[in-house]
Amino acid sequence: MQRYALFGHPISHTLSPTIHRYFAQQTQQIIEYQAIDVQPVKFEKTVMEFFQAGGMGANVTAPFKEKALALCDVLSVDAKRAQSVNTLMRQTDGAIFGHNTDGAGLVNHLLHAHVPLKEASVLLLGAGGAAKGALSALSHQPVSRLTLMNRTYEKAQKVLADLPQDDRCTAVPWNASSHAFDLIINATSMSLHQQQFLLDKSLVHAGTTTYDMFYSADITTFNQWAHSAGVLQTFDGLGMLIHQAALGFELWRQVEPEVAPVLTALEKK
Ligand code: ATR
Repeated sequence: MQRYALFGHPISHTLSPTIHRYFAQQTQQIIEYQAIDVQPVKFEKTVMEFFQAGGMGANVTAPFKEKALALCDVLSVDAKRAQSVNTLMRQTDGAIFGHNTDGAGLVNHLLHAHVPLKEASVLLLGAGGAAKGALSALSHQPVSRLTLMNRTYEKAQKVLADLPQDDRCTAVPWNASSHAFDLIINATSMSLHQQQFLLDKSLVHAGTTTYDMFYSADITTFNQWAHSAGVLQTFDGLGMLIHQAALGFELWRQVEPEVAPVLTALEKK
């Protein structure tokens, strides 16, 4: 049986094995997909041993996406732009190919959920790996404005400086914007650490949608803030998680799984 894995730490609550099991059933693929909790100092060794022992592909989650970038022999354009890797594949020549499907997974879910991106003003919170992937994918959409807001302002400025010049993109310091946005996306790690958001309510108008790239069974701290600010449409990262997994599955298996039934099944859980 062909073997796939997820590497992360900690990963006790991960949904990825369940998602890939659904995809494999749908597409009649016989694969094994296992979540492997790996100590940070052992990451590179564990991944290389997995591939040497015949592993075909893997996902990588926090805190290893940048370490994964460093161990790849070949990188996709999306991985280079995000400077992080969430999907690995062993090529026929044995080389390890690294890709990043997070940004495309986010945009695919926004499009499937009919969140309007055309002419939309978008605020992206954060300037780490998650934000870079999202920014790059969103910049290929017909949005009118893409504002990057980060606690460390210089980091947001650097992220924009590293991307091709795009007049729609600007960086602002944390809590320094008084515009209302159509879509606000959280790409910080604050929800992961259950930190409270103290953002200005002037960022929100009557039709604002919020999207937390982080997924949790409970309402995330970012969406708690959104509700308190009056936002009516909020998403967490479940849809994005399934869409990014689908892109990885398709890369590995050359067959496109259906996301919608998996999202419906997991939303009910
Ligand atoms: P990831 O790979 O998940 O993007 P990361 O690279 O560590 O993780 O980035 C975390 C992001 O969350 C950063 O933008 C960080 O802001 P700084 O650049 O100022 O560090 C942001 N972040 C983390 N904790 C935060 C907090 N308490 N308030 C605001 N932003 C926070």
